[in-house]
Amino acid sequence: MGYEGSQLKKAAAEEALKLVKDGMILGLGTGSTVKFFLEGLSGLVRNGIKVKGVPTSKETARLGRELGIDIDENYAGEIDLDVDGADEVDSNGHLIKGGGGALLREKLVAFNSKEVCIIVDQSKFKDQIGGFGLPIEIFDYLHSSTQRNIEKLGARCTLRKQGEFITDNGNIILDCDFGLIQNPEELEMSLKKIPGVAEVGLFNGLCHKIIIGTPDGIKKMDIEPA
Ligand code: 5RP
Repeated sequence: MGYEGSQLKKAAAEEALKLVKDGMILGLGTGSTVKFFLEGLSGLVRNGIKVKGVPTSKETARLGRELGIDIDENYAGEIDLDVDGADEVDSNGHLIKGGGGALLREKLVAFNSKEVCIIVDQSKFKDQIGGFGLPIEIFDYLHSSTQRNIEKLGARCTLRKQGEFITDNGNIILDCDFGLIQNPEELEMSLKKIPGVAEVGLFNGLCHKIIIGTPDGIKKMDIEPA
């Protein structure tokens, strides 16, 4: 990612900070775009705003604490606002996530949030998602069988770092190439029926708002979740 991309990620993150209100419970995503959000949030906290952050990864928990943000890794209630990045997003709010391997906790936090705001630079905004590939978190046990069952749905899959990439949940990641995805809802449902699949990096019907950093400024889209 070049300098320009980082600037665009930062601009999107700064726009999302405007959604933060005193007393909010915040879902905190994972990745380099969210890092800008956390840095900005830390400034708001230093200025006296009170928030609690529910992190989507051990790395975000660590960084959040380092930045002075109150972190709760086992929050029981509903989250007010989840701010997260994505690897790809389309205008219907379909997302590909998991490039950083945090997709399972990211989906849990998004599902338990009243509002989900996705922050990206413009390179992530696509007419149709799928070009990035689809990360899928699977159990190590019988993982070759799980891979075979996923491939029967039309993908070519490789184990991330030959199976040595271990998620925060102790699982492994399969990076799957389905080409451009025609029906994200149907694909997610088919994948979730396969035993051994812990979670799928396709997020459908979870995103309410997209903030895109572009060289011409910020673009915002509101999505009606299905
Ligand atoms: C991690 C994710 C990230 O949100 C995604 O990979 C985007 O990361 P970045 O902001 O570093 O480009 O899904 O699992």
